[in-house]
Amino acid sequence: MDRNSDASQTQTQTQSQAQPHPEDHVVVLFGATGDLARRKLLPGLFHLAKAGLLPRRYRIVGSAPAAEALSDEEFRAHARQAVAEFGRSRPEGPEWQEFEAALSFGSADTGATEPLVKAVDEAERAVGGTPRRLFHLAVPPVAFTSVIELLGATGLARDARVIVEKPFGTDLASARALNAAVHAVFDESRVFRIDHFLGKEAVDNILALRFANGLFEPLWNREHISHVQIDVPEQIDIQGRAHFFEGTGTFRDMVVTHLFQLLGFVAMEPPVALEAQSLRDEQVKVFRSMRPLDPAHVVRGQYTGYRAEAGVDPASDTETFVALRVDIDNWRWAGVPFHLRSGKALAEGRHVVTLGLREPVLGMFPLDARETADGRANELVIDFADPGSITARFLAKEPGPTMQLAEADMVFGYRGSFTTENALEAYEHLILQAMLGDQSLFTRSDGIERLWEISAPLLDAPPPVAPYAPGSWGPEAITSLVAPHRWHLPERHRPAGR
Ligand code: BG6
Repeated sequence: MDRNSDASQTQTQTQSQAQPHPEDHVVVLFGATGDLARRKLLPGLFHLAKAGLLPRRYRIVGSAPAAEALSDEEFRAHARQAVAEFGRSRPEGPEWQEFEAALSFGSADTGATEPLVKAVDEAERAVGGTPRRLFHLAVPPVAFTSVIELLGATGLARDARVIVEKPFGTDLASARALNAAVHAVFDESRVFRIDHFLGKEAVDNILALRFANGLFEPLWNREHISHVQIDVPEQIDIQGRAHFFEGTGTFRDMVVTHLFQLLGFVAMEPPVALEAQSLRDEQVKVFRSMRPLDPAHVVRGQYTGYRAEAGVDPASDTETFVALRVDIDNWRWAGVPFHLRSGKALAEGRHVVTLGLREPVLGMFPLDARETADGRANELVIDFADPGSITARFLAKEPGPTMQLAEADMVFGYRGSFTTENALEAYEHLILQAMLGDQSLFTRSDGIERLWEISAPLLDAPPPVAPYAPGSWGPEAITSLVAPHRWHLPERHRPAGR
């Protein structure tokens, strides 16, 4: 997102935006046979190729341990199937043939790295010149360190960049150890820690909304905002991922990662410029201002039936739901509660940030008119479903002879306002940014460690899990957690256009 990097791009950027173009690349995909590669990365890379956003010359080398090794042909077939199943466009035609021809495979295990080294060497010769190397570690956390070490030992890491998937540690000590292992081979300027929520269009749009509009930024502080909610309920349950989930839980899976990262963008001070260092400095400043979590302000929940799922401990204390209050001790936000919620098997799958505005003096309006407002009339609601919307909810006079107030919405919907066909999915956006060397939307080591640090009181003394019914909005206690405010969701009515 280094929007200033190409000063020559001054032409108006409309639907046919001047596209940034990465230098020639060899991308190495560790975990190439895994689920993430199949569902997101291979289809995403093909979409980038089709959109003309990949480098002019590139090769993609799949890698996995020798036990799962594929031939080049098998890897191409694997990619074709992945794109057919999960991609937005079909794997056919000249574009597919060109993409497929750029794929090869090289297995790697500690002490047995020749196939990978050979495949990277061949790929680089095929590209010609000195292409940039980008390693994408789509591997389980237990394998992070050994892959990083392998890259160091073979010399493949030299001048290369690395994309690391979440979760980044499970607590402060493990995150520190992981950062140390990564930094022993890659300096921070070459590390791209993915949090796919930061790749969603809506995150960039929060920056646009806040900092490109005189309408909103003046309101964005404790003077005018009484509370903030970051709400990401999911309808899906754990979908058979018992092994992963039992060891992780919703707080580590969703909150310390996605929701806190979003909070960083919602709460940050204006960055000096829209470039990586300023943005990440401001984000980390928010994290440093966050008070350590107070377990008394945390509701952990578990959906009824979770303990009966295959692979789940019948006495499991793992949370499938969490709602919590976060306090940010800085001049902008002191005293404004941020409430975060996420969980599985809930009533709806949504991604919503709500800013509640302070109530003005309403005494001049008749009492029953005020009551209809229900205490949540003045809200700014950012819904970052793809393609997303922004709603300003306010009170208007209902037509008629008396002064009767009613809630009304001003809605901006991406779909109705722009062509969304240029939109990239989160992973596509982030892979492209990594190729461009722009770290704006990637997490930084000090930020990650700070988030684990403020999470320690909760991890050390988690409150017991409360049961909730699948299809509900979570345990009862979430109502008192946000009092005197209310959760924006469920919405009583959804405005048209969303
Ligand atoms: C992943 C979590 O990081 O994000 C999943 O591991 C979760 O448990 C997913 O379902 C949600 O992502 P999205 O983009 O579908 O909201």
